[in-house]
Amino acid sequence: MPVLRSAFIALSRNRSLRKFAEHSSIGGKLSSRFVAGLEIEDALRVCAQVNQQGMHVTLDSLGESVSTAEEAHRAADIYHQLLDQIAARKLDSNISVKLTQMGLALDPVIAETIATSLAQHAHATGNFLRIDMEDSPVTQVTLDIVRRINAQPELRGSTGIVIQSYLYRSQADIEQLIADGIRVRLCKGAYKEPAEVAFPKKSDVDANYSKLANMLLQSPIYHGLATHDENMIAAAKSFVAQRNIDRSHFEFQMLFGVRRDLQRKLIAEGFNVRVYIPFGREWYPYFMRRLAERPANVFFIAKQLFRQ
Ligand code: FDA
Repeated sequence: MPVLRSAFIALSRNRSLRKFAEHSSIGGKLSSRFVAGLEIEDALRVCAQVNQQGMHVTLDSLGESVSTAEEAHRAADIYHQLLDQIAARKLDSNISVKLTQMGLALDPVIAETIATSLAQHAHATGNFLRIDMEDSPVTQVTLDIVRRINAQPELRGSTGIVIQSYLYRSQADIEQLIADGIRVRLCKGAYKEPAEVAFPKKSDVDANYSKLANMLLQSPIYHGLATHDENMIAAAKSFVAQRNIDRSHFEFQMLFGVRRDLQRKLIAEGFNVRVYIPFGREWYPYFMRRLAERPANVFFIAKQLFRQ
């Protein structure tokens, strides 16, 4: 892992810097490139703007591991409000949820109960719940929870998952998920993982991404390919062209504020694009992970700050 990437991942866990950043006005300005704002209303406003550009959205209320059941329920409540508001305002957005924010580390039963109630609410409002994937200690429990939700006949199809191409296990997981009819978002993976579980070399992560993307594209289920990597996107485009797979059969997904040029280009070419829009007061770890992915963003963001 390059030094800068490791440094940003380490900074993403620094508590004092986080406290300072999340409470300062400079922090708010810095984060605005990647985060819609602090409140639900900010997220809904930005969602409407992105919808107007012809793109679907998924909303993420930022926050990671919680330390009490009450905090988990408060975090869930924001998502319930979002589902109601998305329906009331006829927005084109689903929701992306992290199970540690729903209490997974405290007690998996709390997280599963909350996720099930969000799936029920999503289903009742004609919406969809995406469970984000976190680091490898929780991969199996996350898969188990998503599978159990989809195994309930009334919730079948209500809930999707994320698979990371850096993990060795992902091919087997995708085979099983396709057999179960569960929608997948494929990404490369954003956490620092040991070589026992994940490919250390980027070229292997990329090769696996394309291989897994092709498996998803050939399956009868609607999946999402989450990446800003033009090589991955070009490979997927040529695969669907060769196999005569319709463009409406899948979507590309990208993060808010990242490669907006590419997002617009794909829309103009007739592909489905979904933008992942995060919001909320706990933006710091998310923001630092985006810098870790591309340290050059630091200069880009600094430039923006001085322009204001
Ligand atoms: P890669 O990192 O190889 O970057 C390829 C190119 O994309 C770069 O050269 C650059 O041009 C551009 N790029 C990438 N990141 C950028 C950035 N931050 N700023 C500017 N340009 C950038 N991860 C996870 O572990 N669990 C999850 O649930 C999710 N969910 C998720 C949803 C969506 C919609 C997206 C797009 C991504 C995720 N991720 C994720 C993150 C994912 O695992 C990965 O860390 C990032 O997408 C970066 O990987 P790329 O595929 O973009 O390629």
